[in-house]
Amino acid sequence: MATSSAQITSEFSNPNLQVLLSEEKLQSRIKELGAEITRDYAGRNPLLIGVLKGACFFLSDLLRTIDTRLSIEFMAISSYGSSTRTSGEVRIMKDLDVPIEGRDILVVEDIVDTGLTLSYLLANLKSRGAASVKLVALLDKFERREKEVPIDYLGFQIPDEFVVGYGLDFAERYRNLPFIAVLKNPEA
Ligand code: IMP
Ligand code: MG
Repeated sequence: MATSSAQITSEFSNPNLQVLLSEEKLQSRIKELGAEITRDYAGRNPLLIGVLKGACFFLSDLLRTIDTRLSIEFMAISSYGSSTRTSGEVRIMKDLDVPIEGRDILVVEDIVDTGLTLSYLLANLKSRGAASVKLVALLDKFERREKEVPIDYLGFQIPDEFVVGYGLDFAERYRNLPFIAVLKNPEA
């Protein structure tokens, strides 16, 4: 009984998930990105800005592979319904606690899809007088792009499928998966 109920409640082996990027693959690519960022930002004291909630997982693994002085901040952003999204209007729900004038900013995001959120956010941060604003994204769903967003450090390009795990959710579920998976049937 105990075994079968454990199988039924296992989220990691949920049959509705098809693994796209394993934990090993994610972690080894993150190490490579960290090494690149370490080289590029040595001695520059960058400020990494994580976009809540999805990017927290990526940010926390990534920053432990970046061997230079740095600090972190978080922002929360929300878009209202589909009409606002298409106009590219997004609202800042949680702003930075510090000024960023003169700072080297690295925005850390889980996925770039249409690009609307990021193009707004990058422009907003640039307007605050940062010395530089670059983007680190774990995933790039390039086929869906509506607004051009330069991704300076990219983990993986992925096909146009709805993915979950490693911070990415469907209705707040699946963020805790240590891998990225395609959600086969969102209704299930
Ligand atoms: P966009 O680039 O403005 O379209 O929006 C990107 C945001 O949409 C991301 O930060 C995610 O929160 C969400 N998103 C886009 N594609 C996916 C997906 O496949 N799974 C989960 N969330 C997604
Ligand atoms: Mg997000």
